[in-house]
Formats: sequence, C-alpha cells, structure tokens
Amino acid sequence: MGTGLAGQVVIVTGASSGIGRETALHFARERARLVLAARRQQRLQGLEHEIEALGTEVLSLPTDVAQQDQVEAMVERALERFGRVDILVNNAGVGLVALVEETSPEDMEMILRVNFLGAFYGIRAALPIMRRQGSGHIINVSSIVGKRGIPLSGAYCASKFALIGLSESLRLELKGSGIRVSVICPVGTATEFFDAAKDPRGRKPGPKPPVQTPSHVARAIIRCARSPRPEVIVYPPARLLVVLNALSPTLADWVIGIVTSRKA
Ligand SMILES: NC(=O)c1ccc[n+]([C@@H]2O[C@H](COP(=O)([O-])OP(=O)(O)OC[C@H]3O[C@@H](n4cnc5c(N)ncnc54)[C@H](OP(=O)(O)O)[C@@H]3O)[C@@H](O)[C@H]2O)c1
Repeated sequence: MGTGLAGQVVIVTGASSGIGRETALHFARERARLVLAARRQQRLQGLEHEIEALGTEVLSLPTDVAQQDQVEAMVERALERFGRVDILVNNAGVGLVALVEETSPEDMEMILRVNFLGAFYGIRAALPIMRRQGSGHIINVSSIVGKRGIPLSGAYCASKFALIGLSESLRLELKGSGIRVSVICPVGTATEFFDAAKDPRGRKPGPKPPVQTPSHVARAIIRCARSPRPEVIVYPPARLLVVLNALSPTLADWVIGIVTSRKA
C-alpha cells in the first residue's frame, strides 16, 4: 500500500459522488493529499471527514467546473495549501438523454461546458504548476462513448470525444516534459449519473450491461496514477467495440443497436 502515491497532491473534480468520491477515497488510502472539488459543499464536507479519519490531509473546495474563474481559484487554493499539484483527475461530468434533433443549443453548451471545458480549464490552471515542478499527471475521465457514439447521447458523446482528442494532442505536446496525460474510459457504472442526467422526456435509460462499480473504476484510476498509461478502457472487452468500429462502423452500428435495445 502507498507505493508512489503517498504525499502526492491529488485534485479530484466531481468528488461529491460516484467515481470521483471513490477515487478520492482510494487515493486517501494510499496516503495521498486530497483536494476535493464539486458543487455540493455538504457532500464534500462529509467526504472530507471520512478522509481525515484515514489520517491524510484534505481540502474541499466547492467549485462549479463550468466556471473558469472558479476552477482557477480552486487550483490556486490547492497550490497555496499544499505547495504543489501532482495529479489532476478531471472527473466532473453530467449526462443528457436526448436525440440530437431534440437537443437545444443551451443544453449542448451546458454539457460541453461541464464535461469538456471544465477539464480544459483545470488543465490550463494546473499546467504551469506542473511545468515548474517538471512533473505531473493529468487524468481525464472520458467514457467508452468517447470512443464510439451511441443513440440518445449525442451531446454527451461529443463532449467525451472532445476530451479524448484534447488529451491525445496534449500528451504529444508534453512529451519529455515529465507531465503525463491519461484518459480513462469507463463503461456503464452504477452511480447517481443516470439520475443526475438531464432527461427532458423522462426516458430514464439507466446503464446497460456490463455495469461496473465506481470502486472498480477508481481502482483503474489508481493503477493508472501509479503506472501512467495513455488510455485505460476499464472493461477490457469493450476495446473490441473500438476495433470493430475502426474496421466497420456498419457492423459496430449493428452491435450497438442490439446492446442499446436491451433492458438495463
Ligand atoms: N456512470 C457511468 O456510467 C459513466 C460511464 C462512463 C463515464 N462516466 C463519467 O464518469 C464521471 C463521473 O461520473 P459518475 O458516474 O461518478 O456520476 P455522478 O455520481 O453523477 O458524479 C458526477 C460528479 O460530477 C460533479 N459535477 C457535475 N456537474 C458539475 C459541475 N458543473 N461542477 C463541478 N462538479 C460537477 C457532481 O458533483 P456536484 O453535483 O456536487 O457538482 C458529481 O460529483 C463523469 O465524467 C461521467 O461522464 C460515467
């Protein structure tokens, strides 16, 4: 336990529930020092107490990642408190259940602002610090639907594809800098995500099998923090879908049609 991560300063956005909360707890068990960011202050404070009980330092900072000034202030306060930023986990995210033709420009902007620009703001704020340190690790939580689109999720898929594109460019730009960039692509995960998703028509789709636990995803993030990898497909067989899509989008459409028509 603790190898390599003890003492590291880790920012986790979207730490108030699901994957972010579990990830923060897993880092805390490794004796990393935590900065918790999300909007719901009470939830963050509850987690702060749990992490303190594990004997490591923690700072919770209510933050709306859609607001650049709030993200910058959060990273600044993390630096003031701990003097460095080793790992930034851009995990905050929200869903939208809607056909593309039903998606309003406002909803599209909201999804891109939280899921994509929120991560971009974090990267912009943390990079100069990591550059000065000559080390750091940016871990962006995308999704398997950031590799291949599915119906009723056009805005969400677009935001997750955008995050992967940004991460790939950044990884190459930072080659040799000591700063690593990783993308995490979970499949369906049993969290509050599906309840929190904006769902104007009340379709309530829920995750499609296979469904993972947030702890499973958190463990994959911890392994990636210890041994940085460009991309982690948390449920490895899902890579077959990515390969199939590269070879034949028509066949991938057919497979996705079957999977998405299954009951949750
Ligand atoms: N669950 C899945 O099936 C699944 C699959 C693949 C990828 N993912 C991705 O995994 C990440 C975590 O999702 P989850 O499943 O753990 O869902 P979740 O339980 O709903 O957690 C989402 C987190 O994001 C935070 N958040 C949402 N909007 C925010 C904003 N504007 N500013 C700051 N924080 C914000 C929420 O906190 P507040 O509401 O307190 O702000 C919450 O802590 C997301 O990026 C999601 O897209 C999820």
